Amino acid sequence: MSEPDGRVPAVRMRGVVKDFGPVKVLRSVDLDVHAGEVHALAGENGAGKSTLMKVLQGVHPITAGTIEVGGEPVTIRSTADAERAGIGMVFQEFSLVPSMSVAQNISLGRERRGRLGLVDDRAAEAEARRIFADLGVDLDPRREVGRLSTAYWQLVEIAKALAKDARVLVMDEPTASLAKHELENLFGLVERLTARGIAVVYISHRMDEIRRIADRITVLRDGSVSLSDRVDVLTPADIVEAIIGRRLAGDLVYRERPRDPDAPVLLEATGIASADVLESVSVTVRAGEVVGLAGLMGSGRTEFARVVSGIDAPTGGELCLAGEPVAFRSSAAAQRAGVALVPEDRREQGLVLEHSVSDNLVLPVLDRVSAGPFVSPARTRELTEQLVGRYSIKAADPFAPVKLLSGGNQQKVVVAKWMSTEPRVLVMDEPTAGVDIGTKTEILELVRDFATRGGGVVFISSELPELLAVADRIVVLRGGRTHRVLERHEVRSEEQLQLIIQGEAA
Ligand SMILES: Nc1ncnc2c1ncn2[C@@H]1O[C@H](COP(=O)(O)OP(=O)(O)OP(=O)(O)O)[C@@H](O)[C@H]1O
Ligand SMILES: [Mg+2]
Repeated sequence: MSEPDGRVPAVRMRGVVKDFGPVKVLRSVDLDVHAGEVHALAGENGAGKSTLMKVLQGVHPITAGTIEVGGEPVTIRSTADAERAGIGMVFQEFSLVPSMSVAQNISLGRERRGRLGLVDDRAAEAEARRIFADLGVDLDPRREVGRLSTAYWQLVEIAKALAKDARVLVMDEPTASLAKHELENLFGLVERLTARGIAVVYISHRMDEIRRIADRITVLRDGSVSLSDRVDVLTPADIVEAIIGRRLAGDLVYRERPRDPDAPVLLEATGIASADVLESVSVTVRAGEVVGLAGLMGSGRTEFARVVSGIDAPTGGELCLAGEPVAFRSSAAAQRAGVALVPEDRREQGLVLEHSVSDNLVLPVLDRVSAGPFVSPARTRELTEQLVGRYSIKAADPFAPVKLLSGGNQQKVVVAKWMSTEPRVLVMDEPTAGVDIGTKTEILELVRDFATRGGGVVFISSELPELLAVADRIVVLRGGRTHRVLERHEVRSEEQLQLIIQGEAA
């Protein structure tokens, strides 16, 4: 019942099977997670990572298999059962109420009531303060969650789990939306949690993170365990091979593409300002170019993407498309002019979650699947199959709602949907967030192809290796302004670029 050294695991899952109707997602998975360890859970998009953790959390009923917590068999049929067993979860999609305070969110569902049955906000605040003090976090529990940045949302989620005495904390891709310095804060926090004996299950697609903080790793492949071992005895190549089933050759390297210095300018943004963050951003994109946008969180990258793609109106500056000044009144107008956006937030802007994968894919190109005024089911099916194949979208049924896809596969639908409109200018805001390492290299290749065929790309990414692999030129934003413009060959290293982004290098 225990490890060779006699320790009883904090959580032991044995022979876990999970079917959704005819779809077999987990096929007899074993997992041991020990107190005080960070256990990474890795695998391709759709491999079953989130599902395994949702089974542990009581979100999905287990089809077969057993779960032990601290050596005792437990039956988990609901999230309340999981909470009682000491299992906490920081979801891939946050579960907080934006209009409530930090303290109210943390105590949600366990509110203490004073006389007259009123909720005791003071007690909730005191509890939140105690937890944050324990964690070494400086955050006022009275602040409204909706006004905090994503990094804080995550802290609130963690505090919420700890307030329920979680002994095991599951984090599903916690860094997907964090900037570099926030990442270090999170890692510090995870270390303090494990030092207190809490077991952390850490789902991630980022190899550097896994190697940085995980003690052990379990890799899922098509619902089965393909590797489970200590991280320090594995090479990155071992892990990648377990994830995608083959060795990955030369991923994330920049490849010089034939470029025409006199190619027509597709997008010319000059001194763009906006109501919120932008003060003066200038970016030029020629046909055939991928222009990377780098910068810290809040530097104005997403705001710039929103202006260029017609979501927000600029308050100053000039935007020209193929030499013509434009003033888009909506994203639809921008799309008609040939500017498409792969948005950062797929759930809010990228997808209609209740609609099918197919509907989402063909929506912007209805003319291509129509015969006269009618949508042709045969053409729809054909185009859907084509895109699902080209973008390696893992969907048991492409005519089922897109919300049933794994997080990374939803992201691929968004990328496929907008790339396939063949715009003149494609603006991509963190397009590979949550996408697995094999598919990421495929998406970068599609972006290069798109540019080689004469398109222009604005590519926003916080992951510098990825940015350096795909961008022909890098525009660094700081405080809503264009801070530096670097040709790819001028960037000598990731470290150099990082310093420029932080404003520490000339
Ligand atoms: N409620 C559901 N009904 C049907 N299929 C589902 C349901 N939930 C998940 N699936 C399927 O289970 C498979 C595994 O999904 P899961 O979310 O666990 O993947 P994942 O490993 O977390 O991937 P990602 O890295 O993309 O987040 C996917 O193919 C998904 O479509
Ligand atoms: Mg997932």
